Amino acid sequence: MSGRVIVVGGVNVDLVVHSARLPGPGETVTGGVFERHDGGKGGNQAVAAARLGADVRFIGAVGDDSFGSEARAALAAEGIDVSGLATNPDAATGIALILVDATGENLISVASGANRAFGPASVEAELARLGSLGGDVVLVSNELAASTVAAALHAASAAGARTILNPAPADDLDRGLLALVDILTPNRSELCTLTGTDAADLEAAQAPERLAVREAVVVTLGADGALVVTHHGPPRPVPATAVNVVDTTGAGDAFNGALAAALAQGLALEEAVLQAVAGGGLATTRPGARAGMPTAAELEAALRG
Ligand code: RIB
Repeated sequence: MSGRVIVVGGVNVDLVVHSARLPGPGETVTGGVFERHDGGKGGNQAVAAARLGADVRFIGAVGDDSFGSEARAALAAEGIDVSGLATNPDAATGIALILVDATGENLISVASGANRAFGPASVEAELARLGSLGGDVVLVSNELAASTVAAALHAASAAGARTILNPAPADDLDRGLLALVDILTPNRSELCTLTGTDAADLEAAQAPERLAVREAVVVTLGADGALVVTHHGPPRPVPATAVNVVDTTGAGDAFNGALAAALAQGLALEEAVLQAVAGGGLATTRPGARAGMPTAAELEAALRG
């Protein structure tokens, strides 16, 4: 029997402008096209895992506004249990302003609202409500308050879950928490932030010993796939298949959701990373953070080539 995937993270409404190129500081770029999407790293990760057939519980918060009820309904429509999604009457639902250029590259600025107001006591209560977490995977991202991320990792670990920390965004992360993390999933720039090194020094930065996680550091490398670094043996690259990139927003979330789903199903780490890389790639082929999240059948077809 598969374990559950419990996602602790942020929910946003994404206000997106697609234009030929991204503006520099102080510059205006006209001619863009506006779209609105459901987003937030936690919400996106939950959707990615649910579309792959996982039993997903979401823990986080929205505001008591129309964006919040729409965000809740969008998650529920994917079959995600949203009984752990609080409604905060004193804060607005998170908003992300996103710019996407013709190559699919993006810039994101987030007004966190209810996400940052969601406190440690709430996450502890919601995790406690789920009972023993043995066999379950708890996936935490860093769009919540630092104290809430810490509480989630402590409680999940104590209840026997396997923990994945997606350190996105990486600033503000207490490195001491890494001892509660089984699998850390930074992208290149997050890894540099966490290790204080630059991209050229990735080899030296990758060791789980250096980041003190329990099981593995899985570095996501975009079109280059991922690198799996454990306490045993050399780093193992997991290649990606080429896809037609439309929008990279949410690719990391698709990766993390697919990884959590595969691990909850009992797959070995490298097999799970292979699925996650394929899931992340597929997510870039459609506009918006969530629209490209693959179903199990789509993922299987992509893996067959
Ligand atoms: O990872 C993509 C997500 O980051 C977007 O959906 C946006 O809401 C921000 O949280």
